[in-house]
Amino acid sequence: YDYDLLVVGSANADLVIGVDRRPGAGETVLGSDLALHPGGKGANQAVAAARLGARTALLARVGDDAHGRLLLDSQRDAGVDTAAVLVGGAPTGVALITVDPSGDNSIVVSPGANGHLTPKDIRAASALLAASRVVSAQLEIPLETVVEVVRGLRPGTRFVLNPSPPRELPEDVLAACDPLILNEHEARVVLGVDTGDTPEQWAEALLARGPRSVVVTLGADGALVADTAGSARVPSVKVDAVDTTGAGDAFTAALAWRLGLGESLAEAAAYAARVGAAAVTREGAQASFPTAEEVAAL
Ligand code: RIB
Ligand code: NA
Repeated sequence: YDYDLLVVGSANADLVIGVDRRPGAGETVLGSDLALHPGGKGANQAVAAARLGARTALLARVGDDAHGRLLLDSQRDAGVDTAAVLVGGAPTGVALITVDPSGDNSIVVSPGANGHLTPKDIRAASALLAASRVVSAQLEIPLETVVEVVRGLRPGTRFVLNPSPPRELPEDVLAACDPLILNEHEARVVLGVDTGDTPEQWAEALLARGPRSVVVTLGADGALVADTAGSARVPSVKVDAVDTTGAGDAFTAALAWRLGLGESLAEAAAYAARVGAAAVTREGAQASFPTAEEVAAL
């Protein structure tokens, strides 16, 4: 394989304002100075993996504009292969983000060019898919595009999906996931029905839908990993949160990469938890992702 990880997904310009608290409907609050950061769940995953040392490529679409150039620069600085990043068709995606004093965020995404990453674009990149050990996707691009990724997978290529923002998923997509990585809210939406209150119950119900493995992320409580052999809890690493934006993307990218290296689900998740923890201690998404040396020092 030429690549340890191919990320197929979104690239957004993150417009971030710090707030003391989020406004309710009809309310106006004053926030901090505006920060502009490269983001998007796909672009974040690619930078996170490359910074850890993974040979990484990104398949995405940005606009022919300043935000698109910001995103391409950030990918290249991290060492991501951007030959498959398509340019044009619509303005670069934008995420409006507020971050509160506890480091928690709320995000609204305007997909822009991400919405124009088509199944045809995926077919045109079939050689790249074949050259990648692990392929990872999220849901800020059209679902039909993710379906085409799944169809284009070679036997032996591992597929990892973070269904964010969540929706119900077709059977063939679910069956390809190894693992499906999601938080509590996403698990409830993907399941579509109430299947109990514990991560173990969600994981069991999700596995029954077809994924070969499931990882439920639990924020400060760590993660639950589950496959047909059983389930295990992976503890979190305690840190002072500054900005959680992108920490889930860093977790997913690290997990996907380590699985490709042959680690077990529990081993890979333990490593990924350290990567995610490092990411919450700094502002921004991509700017906050650690190198392998920083993870080792944690
Ligand atoms: O997961 C964090 C990301 O979600 C942000 O970078 C934002 O762009 C949205 O895609
Ligand atoms: Na961060």
